[in-house]
Amino acid sequence: MSALSQIESLIGEMTLPEKLGQLTMTAAGYAVTGPIIAGDSTEAIKAGTIGNLLNMVGAEHVHEMQRLAVEESRLHIPLLIGYDVVHGHRTVFPVPLAEAGLFDPRVWELTAREAATEAAADGIAMAFAPMLDVARDPRWGRGIEGPGEDPFVGARFAEAKVRGFQGRDLSAPDAIASVAKHYCAYGAVTAGRDYGSVDVSERALREIYLPPFEAAIAAGAVSVMPAFTDIAGVPMTANVRMLQGWLRERLKFSGVIVTDYNAIAELMRHGIAADLPEAAALALAAGVDIDMMSDAYRRGLPIALERGLVNIAQVDAAVRRVLALKLRLGLFADPYRRGATSETAVTLAARRRLAREVASRAIVMLTNPGDVLPLSAALNSLAVIGPLADSSIDMRGPWWGASAEVGHVTVLEGLRASLPGLSIQYSAGVAIDSVDVSGIDAAVDLCRTAQAVILCVGESAAMSGEAACRAHLDLPGRQRDLCEAVLKRAKSHRIPVIVVLFSGRPLIVPWLTEGADAVLAAWFLGSEAGNAVADIVTGRISPGGRTAVSWPRALGQVPIYFGDRPGGRPENPKDRYTSQYLDVPNSPQFPFGHGLTYGRFRLANLRVTPDRAGEGDTIEVRVDVANEGARSAEETVFLFSHDKVASVSRPVLELKGFAKIALAPSENGTVTMRLPAVALRFLGIDLEPVFEPGEVEILVGPCADRSQLLVATINLTP
Ligand code: NOJ
Repeated sequence: MSALSQIESLIGEMTLPEKLGQLTMTAAGYAVTGPIIAGDSTEAIKAGTIGNLLNMVGAEHVHEMQRLAVEESRLHIPLLIGYDVVHGHRTVFPVPLAEAGLFDPRVWELTAREAATEAAADGIAMAFAPMLDVARDPRWGRGIEGPGEDPFVGARFAEAKVRGFQGRDLSAPDAIASVAKHYCAYGAVTAGRDYGSVDVSERALREIYLPPFEAAIAAGAVSVMPAFTDIAGVPMTANVRMLQGWLRERLKFSGVIVTDYNAIAELMRHGIAADLPEAAALALAAGVDIDMMSDAYRRGLPIALERGLVNIAQVDAAVRRVLALKLRLGLFADPYRRGATSETAVTLAARRRLAREVASRAIVMLTNPGDVLPLSAALNSLAVIGPLADSSIDMRGPWWGASAEVGHVTVLEGLRASLPGLSIQYSAGVAIDSVDVSGIDAAVDLCRTAQAVILCVGESAAMSGEAACRAHLDLPGRQRDLCEAVLKRAKSHRIPVIVVLFSGRPLIVPWLTEGADAVLAAWFLGSEAGNAVADIVTGRISPGGRTAVSWPRALGQVPIYFGDRPGGRPENPKDRYTSQYLDVPNSPQFPFGHGLTYGRFRLANLRVTPDRAGEGDTIEVRVDVANEGARSAEETVFLFSHDKVASVSRPVLELKGFAKIALAPSENGTVTMRLPAVALRFLGIDLEPVFEPGEVEILVGPCADRSQLLVATINLTP
């Protein structure tokens, strides 16, 4: 029987409760982020009235549940089991915001592939990832889960992750379905407050928030999760225009739409449904296939059908999509294929090596003005201070997959392992978030005998991610007291202080970045965090990470991003009546793309050919890069455009490409980037793409700070 007729014959045989079971996803009862459906799920699986699970890990458990579904239920339909495989599963890789800063699609894909392999070995068939929300407001805790502030980066990140999770053949035992989330504009929540309302223009939606999702779908993502939030009053879970119109009709997405946790029931809280049947009907009519954790489809749709709010054809269409996905995943052919073989120690060790390499490359060296880093090999004593120096659990970040609580290498452990000959003394000084300052004196005392201080401060892992927004982006608790005391004492002993800053977002700590001798942004680096930090401070690896978000100088600047439009009165400190603050420049403290290395790079000789280009042409952009420093390092080169005069005011910089080049000391190289001229189209006044003749600036450099960019001009021709 063909796949299609297998599905149709199943649908023909199914009762309404069995159909609604296929449209229901229930938590297995642990590691949940919201309410749990009461009742006995195992009985429901046997009855065929629960068809999908989340938050169940371990091949043994999963196979037992599959056995109930395929052997004991009437129609033998396998379960689909999903999990938040956001940046690793058993092995934790750096958080997505940190990994985005590698600007390396090959690595983005590789870590997703490895995470998928681990998750599949645990019986999982669907990852609620990648998270693709462009995020420009660091108050919002969820920026850490995604690729940062730029839609072009988001799109490249999306493709790589989807390829990584799904592999070449979705039915392979190590491939898992990818859920692009949270569709759409979740990152634009008012005042950076999670679950808040969203109001974005149609242009912002299309230019900023949609491109990563479009790229994910073009790369074959088989599932999409609507955001909890609304856009201009229409919650995404019931947003007919965005789900049916944009996703299904315009983007031709034929996969499965799975809600976020309890989102259908929350349509009542949004105030667009009076009861559960109404909420369920709204979601189904919008094209939502799987109800995660509301139990709205099972309880509400039978009533909605009776009321005539929806019809059975709509139910069948959703069931068809869910069954088609299960078929593509190979679940009908062999529901036990994922988790059938366990991974070898060799594979696990190789994955840890990858995690270490990626983590060290994700570290962003924010400052190092006196070149105190890498540490001198002549050092023989080190003080490691701060509440994040030895906190294994925090190294994982806010999504930890199914990793253990312990065993994630801390900075202290990493330094001790990398520098066995060194005397290393440690004191936390203060807790991450407490008022107790009684440990500060003892911590500061370590400066007496040490030749350098590694000061590990920042946020706990739980201070970013879902439901983790902050209105103050400084160091929590009394860490500032600790830092100031250490900086003062270290100065009096003339020893350098290297700050390792952990956070899920840019922190606004200019007093620290200016007071310390060097600052490393370590985000949350995962299982190999401490080894990665050690690799950088010892100079085994030159830092290469770049920040994928602008770091504000002051909270009043947020939202802050490089792709703003100029306005009619661009900032001019000499003219009061221009777009600026009285008390702080508009520029961020660290621009998008910032990140120092142990090399010293000079970019020169920008060539853009041809200097006239039609829509079908490809523009070649070349720039010479020289490493004038004393160490090998990798430079990241960004390619921006700026359309100077267009029918619609264009952003001052638009990212169009990036590339990397590794150079030894005194080595020169050339970076070549190819830019299809069609990428210089933009959405015209009517929001349709236009290619407008005229001058466009091509800007190339190490970050989004215009003063550091080389500029050439090309002419677009009709
Ligand atoms: C809520 C989060 O918003 C979403 O990202 C996640 O996938 C689900 N919970 C399931 O854990």
